[in-house]
Amino acid sequence: MLNRRLLLWLFLMSLFSSYVSGSQEITTDESKSIQDIAQIVERSIRAEAENGFARRGAHAKAHGCVKAQFRVLPLPDELSLGIFSEAREYPAWIRFSNGAEKVQDDSVGDGRGMAIKLMHVDRSPSGTQDFVMLNHPVFFVRNAADYVEFQKALAIDNPVKFFFPDINPLHFRLHELGIVMAIRSKKVNNPLDAQYWSATPYRFSDSAMKFSTRPCNRTAPALSTDTSSANYLRQNMQAHLDREEACFDFMVQLRKRAAEMPVEDPTIEWSEKDSPFITVAKITIPAQRFNTPEQLKFCEDLTFSPWHAIPEHEPLGGINRVRKVVYEISSRIRHELNRASERESSGF
Ligand code: HEM
Repeated sequence: MLNRRLLLWLFLMSLFSSYVSGSQEITTDESKSIQDIAQIVERSIRAEAENGFARRGAHAKAHGCVKAQFRVLPLPDELSLGIFSEAREYPAWIRFSNGAEKVQDDSVGDGRGMAIKLMHVDRSPSGTQDFVMLNHPVFFVRNAADYVEFQKALAIDNPVKFFFPDINPLHFRLHELGIVMAIRSKKVNNPLDAQYWSATPYRFSDSAMKFSTRPCNRTAPALSTDTSSANYLRQNMQAHLDREEACFDFMVQLRKRAAEMPVEDPTIEWSEKDSPFITVAKITIPAQRFNTPEQLKFCEDLTFSPWHAIPEHEPLGGINRVRKVVYEISSRIRHELNRASERESSGF
């Protein structure tokens, strides 16, 4: 009984401490942590590539890349900013993936990714605006230093050590463990039938936002749900797009209350009561055949990054600062090893 109370108290304390951070705060040892993470990711890509092909340092398994249209809706003034300042259409690529750094059977519990790349975006250095998301509203690591601890635990094949680093209950990461368990237990039969979230925040001009995509025809029965093969997510996605188009609402959630909607801790969900998600664009994925060797190769060679962005939507917070360095290295190394050119190929 005492133990249960103690655990509950620790859990509440860890939640409370999460609410303290307000605006962007860069700790002095953050850049050292980022360099450590970049080295670990590079080493792991090089080691995996000995099997013949260099894959992404995370989200290695693609279900496929599909052509899409991203249509910004006419919006009221407070939402009419950055990419959303003009009601117009962008051609887009969308890559759906599994979260693991290894290619594995789709039946293994894992996060699922959706990465959108808007093409022909003039004011972004990459020429594109990317929106990178997971099928869960929060990420399971708070900051760069914790991500190093997570990688150290993985390196000794003992991820549990990240959640229970020693016998002192004050060091337990129960909040993070709860998030990992929630992510791993989510059941997705078709990547086109899931909701996805940015989890980390981004600039919304002078304010901040998180974003999310939700299938628009949620009430319709899923078209294909067979989960018997190792690659059922790709197969069900193709079966869907063989028959008809798919669509998503693209939504933003504005940061209304600084203390309760932290920028530096992506393990904290921004309450939809305080600020609901608002639809600002519609995504249409036309019926198409993407499951071909040429299209899958094209998909491998693309690079998505939260930092492919116009200044009004620059990524915010420590985890996004980690991603700035790590995605760049991951993409450079895998392209070098595969002797592929690193370019934002349009294909439109
Ligand atoms: C410290 C935290 C993180 C690290 C170190 C990390 C690392 C990486 C790396 C190395 C890649 C491959 C990049 C490439 O080679 O092109 C990647 C891809 C990806 N990450 Fe992260 N990531 C982090 C946080 C996140 C978060 C918070 C999200 C989502 C909310 C996310 C979602 C994705 C997705 C969807 C992809 C696949 C993009 C694509 O389809 O190419 N990651 N990540």
